[in-house]
Amino acid sequence: MTDLSQQLLLVLARDGTVTSHQFASTLGQDHQRVVGAIKSLQSLGNVSSYACVRGCGGKADNREIMGVHGRRQCPSQPGFPRGRLFSSLGKEGLLLADIKANMPNSNFALGAAMRNKWVMKDGEKVIPAVSDIKDEVQLHLQAVTRGDADTLPEKVKADYKKRKLIKEIEKTVFDVSKGSEFTTSVVKQEAELTKEMIESGQWKNANFKPYNFKSKGRVELRSGHLHPLMQLRAEFRQIFLEMGFTEMPTNNYVESAFWNFDALFQPQQHPARDAQDTFYVADPETCLEVPEDYLERVRKTHTEGGYGSIGYQYPWSRAEADKNLLRTHTTAVSARMLHKLAQDGFKPAKYFSIDRVYRNETLDATHLAEFHQVEGVVADHDFSLKNLMGVIGNFFKKIGMTDIRFKPTYNPYTEPSMEIYSYHKGLKKWVEIGNSGLFRPEMLRPMGLPESVKVCGYGLSLERPAMIMYGINSIRELVGPRVKMELILDNPVCTIDK
Ligand code: PHE
Repeated sequence: MTDLSQQLLLVLARDGTVTSHQFASTLGQDHQRVVGAIKSLQSLGNVSSYACVRGCGGKADNREIMGVHGRRQCPSQPGFPRGRLFSSLGKEGLLLADIKANMPNSNFALGAAMRNKWVMKDGEKVIPAVSDIKDEVQLHLQAVTRGDADTLPEKVKADYKKRKLIKEIEKTVFDVSKGSEFTTSVVKQEAELTKEMIESGQWKNANFKPYNFKSKGRVELRSGHLHPLMQLRAEFRQIFLEMGFTEMPTNNYVESAFWNFDALFQPQQHPARDAQDTFYVADPETCLEVPEDYLERVRKTHTEGGYGSIGYQYPWSRAEADKNLLRTHTTAVSARMLHKLAQDGFKPAKYFSIDRVYRNETLDATHLAEFHQVEGVVADHDFSLKNLMGVIGNFFKKIGMTDIRFKPTYNPYTEPSMEIYSYHKGLKKWVEIGNSGLFRPEMLRPMGLPESVKVCGYGLSLERPAMIMYGINSIRELVGPRVKMELILDNPVCTIDK
């Protein structure tokens, strides 16, 4: 709070009300600064209140005459010819010849003094005609300086303006009075409700600053802009959270073949494990550690089977499982989480993840070597295919896709497996939007999950719905070096109609 605001409060405490003009002239302060102080008090809420008494609304009368124009002097002051002439006459008067000889500008001064009837000719002499000169102009200008310009007749004001004795300046005068919460000791207003205030209970007594809905705000926002993909990711995340899902930690792009493939009961000869389809990491070439007891159960399931399965009946290679790669799907993360869930003692769980995956693809308008997967995993006792279809249906309903169909497919790690299709109104056909299934016992049982536990999963890409929502035809306009800044700066934010 400024000193001026504080002084204003003290004056209000004493007098109850004050006008901005009075206040400024008693303190010898610039009126504009006083207005600033009034406005800053206003932002404190009901400490004070004000009303414009003059000058609001920009009417013709919002002009007020202020002060004497610069260098001019009052006519009766000693330096002014006619005033000087009058005071030099004394009671007896002076010889006209003497006046003319001694006084500069004497003709001019004489003319003016005679017109005002201050002096008259008496033979050779000039004598005073009045005992005292009452200079109207001076009185008027004094009134103006006091702020009483209103008392001057309009004609006089116009004349003075023409003679540049006064000038008009625009000024709004405020009538300030005490507000309903008037105080002279203003406490700091809180602009934010913080965690600490809630915890300590301090919020109960805090004095909050009111919102200023009239604030103009900044024309150009200099803040960062979310890329459409990140925008959509935030929305998907919100939907999952609303449905009670927990986010999985996906911060490892480099994964071992073990978690990416073997743990998922994906045979080591599977074409997806080919270098043509998967990026292997050269340095470091192999992973650091794998849970050995679990690895042994995985190996056994692949080679000999178990849990009602005969496995793949092939010699399983540890070296193949130890290879590092860029994860090809977020299901690697799901495998880690399900294994952990089994270790921690199984409880029903719902997990989700949205992050990058990498595939050694031929690049085209709809494929990149790097894209985002959205994945949901639900683990519960006696979960059925019907439940899986329910979970998936609910999820897609939340993103506005109500027409969903399933088509049987094959995944090494799920049985049954289903592709998810949605009816595309624009294209007027069913388009594939995701993949899903119930994880196989060959994947879940080696982790240590009990037989009664069933786990379903589904995955989709983030890029495809983003392209549909933002009307982008080539994925290269969405990701990579060809992305235009305008896409991010100018695109309206597309939101999911939940
Ligand atoms: N991982 C599968 C994919 O890459 C998606 C999926 C996740 C399928 C979970 C079934 C279960 O497309």
